[in-house]
Amino acid sequence: MQVESQSLKKTFQNNFFIGAAINEVQIDEQDPMANALLKKEFNSITTENNLKWMYIEPLPNEFNFDKSDKYVNLGEKNNMHIVGHTLVWHSQIAEYMNEIKDSTTMAKAMESHIKTVVNRYKDRIHSWDVVNEALKEDGSLRESIFYSVLGEEYIERAFKLAAKIDPKVELSYNDYNLCKPSKREGAVKLVKRLKKNGAKIDAIGIQAHWKLNYPSLDEIEKTILAFSNLGIKVMFTELDVSVLPNPWELFGAGVEQDFKKFEGDPKMNPYPTKLPDSIQVQLAKRYEDIFNLFLKYQNKISRVTFWGITDKQTWLNDWPIKGRTNYPLLFDRKYQKKEAYSSVIKLKIQN
Ligand code: G3I
Repeated sequence: MQVESQSLKKTFQNNFFIGAAINEVQIDEQDPMANALLKKEFNSITTENNLKWMYIEPLPNEFNFDKSDKYVNLGEKNNMHIVGHTLVWHSQIAEYMNEIKDSTTMAKAMESHIKTVVNRYKDRIHSWDVVNEALKEDGSLRESIFYSVLGEEYIERAFKLAAKIDPKVELSYNDYNLCKPSKREGAVKLVKRLKKNGAKIDAIGIQAHWKLNYPSLDEIEKTILAFSNLGIKVMFTELDVSVLPNPWELFGAGVEQDFKKFEGDPKMNPYPTKLPDSIQVQLAKRYEDIFNLFLKYQNKISRVTFWGITDKQTWLNDWPIKGRTNYPLLFDRKYQKKEAYSSVIKLKIQN
């Protein structure tokens, strides 16, 4: 079969869901080329931002479901697997939450948020990232507002609440850098603790914000096995592969996280107009290797979601340095398939 007549979702239909994170413009169907790609290539969607606390419940008990309703309708209209990102996260949280210092108020706020949001989309959102990024790099728990006020038990409480409201929905813990041994071990312990304490957890969300040479395939494989051995599904929830220099690598881990001084620095933005062929080839090879591994463990992996549709809209154009030109996805700025797209599709055509 020709690559041209294929789509990602058809190619991997017997393996795993192929998803994309979508932004507000795409939820509003104001980006016709991106929306056409979404419909043709993907069978799962995640909200890049619009289900996060600061947008959904900006003031206590004042919910704004305009965009999230549109999002769920769009997914249903296209018969997609719909993901809810995310219920409990310390970032992009409503301001008033940062002011809460007593555990009763915090527990009530969390309970009301989870109940209202999960209930609204019961039987319509198929999978919830219940808790996002609760771990530090060493695998211990992050001192987030939730942890500081409620202690580690907040995680279990969140999972139990979500399961009570929608017993059939898939529930996951989602985080980045899970292929790093220390953090992976922390997440494994967390999943075990949740299970031991009777919380329902169905899946791990490995975000997969990766680079051309990191993490190694070996660590990715170990990570797939570590979580599937716990009896939960493995999902790659925010896949992208950055090709740009990373300030931490260049200047050491101790560098302050305000990278404003690098904005406009050509050294940090080496491909402002076009990705050189040699890097395009490296990116295609990296995606080929990654998908090869995913196929090897297809019986353990239930979803692979890209964090965006095209290079035009990726968050990596503005992080960690604003205004760069990155190339992390399978479709370019003109909505065209990249070499990496073909390398991934060809894996199945040859098989
Ligand atoms: O809401 C304002 C809007 O009013 C304003 O007009 C616009 C102008 O720039 O900014 C808007 O806020 C931006 C928001 O995205 C919505 O577009 C923020 O500045 C921007 O920082 C924010 O970035 C998001 C980031 O999470 C915040 O942490 C990215 O789009 C989103 O891709 C990213 O997603 C996270 C996942 O949720 C969790 N895992 C990591 C991943 C990447 O950081």
